[in-house]
Amino acid sequence: MQLFVFVSLLIAVRAVVVPPVDSSGHFHSPLPTDVVPQGKNITINGVLTYVSLPKGRFDRTTAVLMLTVKADQWAAAGFATYAPDYLNGDALPTGGNVTAWAVNHGEAQTTPPLLAVISALKSHGIKQIATTGYCFGGLYTTRLVQNNTITVGTMAHPSSLNVPTDFELVKAQAHVPVEINNAELDTGFTPALAIETDAFAGVAHGFASDPVQVAAKQGAFDTSLAFIKKHLK
Ligand SMILES: *[C@@H]1O[C@H](CO)[C@@H](O)[C@H](O)[C@H]1NC(C)=O
Ligand SMILES: *[C@@H]1O[C@H](CO)[C@@H](O)[C@H](O)[C@H]1NC(C)=O
Ligand SMILES: *[C@@H]1O[C@H](CO)[C@@H](O)[C@H](O)[C@H]1NC(C)=O
Repeated sequence: MQLFVFVSLLIAVRAVVVPPVDSSGHFHSPLPTDVVPQGKNITINGVLTYVSLPKGRFDRTTAVLMLTVKADQWAAAGFATYAPDYLNGDALPTGGNVTAWAVNHGEAQTTPPLLAVISALKSHGIKQIATTGYCFGGLYTTRLVQNNTITVGTMAHPSSLNVPTDFELVKAQAHVPVEINNAELDTGFTPALAIETDAFAGVAHGFASDPVQVAAKQGAFDTSLAFIKKHLK
């Protein structure tokens, strides 16, 4: 049994105070709406999935399963990228009530569409799946790592994890590499987990348009990309 919990430590400007971001921003649809999309929405095994393929040649046996936004960024890095709508067409509206919304977006509702897409990818010749999850998607990346369903997992700002239970499960069960980026000011973490995954000083949960946050977000992508490339054959 091996553990590759690699905690990335990126240097940011500690002096910058970043206000907490509206928590509703964590639960937006994984299907991109705010950029000019390069990919397409395709229904895979009954699940609406945003699919972004690299331009030119790419490895058709490897896929990135993205439980966050920015699928096109992964496709531009050369990976066939799939962002399933595991919120079942019901993303939290701006200003929506997270507590009420969360009742119908627990693991019971969210896991089946994820596994449906993974199963379809595997039956279509995808041999290696890298999962990258942001916030809400971090929980599911953790589950997929715990179950050894994927080849490699990275996450930023995972929310809703049970600490230390979920980390202990990773240590006990997982034999796939996993990398965690966290935000120092993240309120989704208990202090213990925050210490364990400390990174990105000055970045609140949910990236905004602050230059330090943008730099950190790019850092999170670069770190995840390097980690995933290292662990895919
Ligand atoms: C994909 O579907 C979502 C949700 O219906 C929609 O907001 C988005 O514009 C669609 N994107 C594309 C590229 O069709
Ligand atoms: C949000 O929803 C919960 C559960 O339905 C409810 O108890 C709470 O009062 C709501 N909060 C607001 C601000 O409406
Ligand atoms: C992981 O495995 C558990 C136990 O079999 C199962 O209940 C859960 O749905 C699985 N989750 C994922 C994301 O594969």
